Amino acid sequence: MTLDKFADTFRRVFERPPEIETRAPGRVNLIGEHTDYNDGFVLPADIDRAIWIYAAARDDRLVRAHSLDFGQTTVFNTAKIERDDNAIWVNYIQGVIHEYQKRGDTIRGMDLLLSGNVPMGSGLSSSAALEVATAETCRILTGLEIDPVSMALLCQAAERNFIGVQCGIMDQFVSTLGRENTALFLDCRDLSYELVPLKMQARIVICDSRKQRSLQTSEYNKRRAECEGAARALDAILGNVKALRDVSPEQLEEHKDRMPELWYRRARHVVTENQRVLSAVGFLKAGDIRQFGRLMYDSHASLRDGYEVSCPELDILVELAAAQQGTIGARMTGAGFGGCTVNLVSSEAVAEFQATVGEKYQAKTSLKPMIYVCSPSNGVTHRRL
Ligand code: GLA
Repeated sequence: MTLDKFADTFRRVFERPPEIETRAPGRVNLIGEHTDYNDGFVLPADIDRAIWIYAAARDDRLVRAHSLDFGQTTVFNTAKIERDDNAIWVNYIQGVIHEYQKRGDTIRGMDLLLSGNVPMGSGLSSSAALEVATAETCRILTGLEIDPVSMALLCQAAERNFIGVQCGIMDQFVSTLGRENTALFLDCRDLSYELVPLKMQARIVICDSRKQRSLQTSEYNKRRAECEGAARALDAILGNVKALRDVSPEQLEEHKDRMPELWYRRARHVVTENQRVLSAVGFLKAGDIRQFGRLMYDSHASLRDGYEVSCPELDILVELAAAQQGTIGARMTGAGFGGCTVNLVSSEAVAEFQATVGEKYQAKTSLKPMIYVCSPSNGVTHRRL
């Protein structure tokens, strides 16, 4: 829907004009998967797909929210936040309001109209986009003082406390602080970051496997617990290990017998992935896109074999991409268990890539993938209407 139509719909639904428009993007992670909750490094970028909220403040504390994508309306009071099992999307909004109120902010009522084009449940962080768009809308309409990093942390807390995914900070951070045509290199321990320009003769191509993600929350939380187990075991030997971030691949190899084999394999992915991110950032800055691509393939193999969060569909997409002329690198992106791959493809080879990978994937899996070229966009923005 065009933005004008959006405003018209708001008027029709709420019988008043909207005051602001907020936009928060989804993200694609170029490299550094399952490292964020281990205090490690990540390199995501914001995609040119987002969640939009049109909003107007109210004098009471009622929130009336209408989702165009779900065709649902809901009403709740910010003084009484409760999970809503009939409208899952509302929980992200409530979760954010709940976290603000835990800080002592009283969130005023609002009329909200939501829509987006980040595919849901496909590993491109539609949930973080919804949280960040909500947080920004509350910030403006209630007039709150909060800096962007704290806002990202607040959205992460909403996801962990209200939705129940023990996620890291990557998605909410980049949806808040990312910038056009850059990737965001983030140290998830101290939250220092650098925007690295993406000026290359290649395009970022996203392949959505259309494989429904299953078991994602429980497996995700399990991986996190296994990593923490490995970190504790290594701390007992080495000392000063707060997270796997503090362990080198050599140290892990030396002490691998001191933990269950499963923990060792999980930890090996994390400690090698952290090193890959650091090398990848170096290659990106040096313009060595080939080496960057090689690390993407290594990352995928490690996620598939050691961390075990890939699935046959994602592996097929990576194999088909690798066989394609002009592909520089490919890997699964996001939490895994379905969802998307991210590919670096030479500009002139993109059209052929889209046609051939799409056709072969469908022939092998009977799933019709969605393949699109992405131009890294800005993090959250708002404008008064
Ligand atoms: C999800 C989480 C992130 C991160 C990735 C895996 O997207 O929300 O915090 O852990 O999975 O890298």
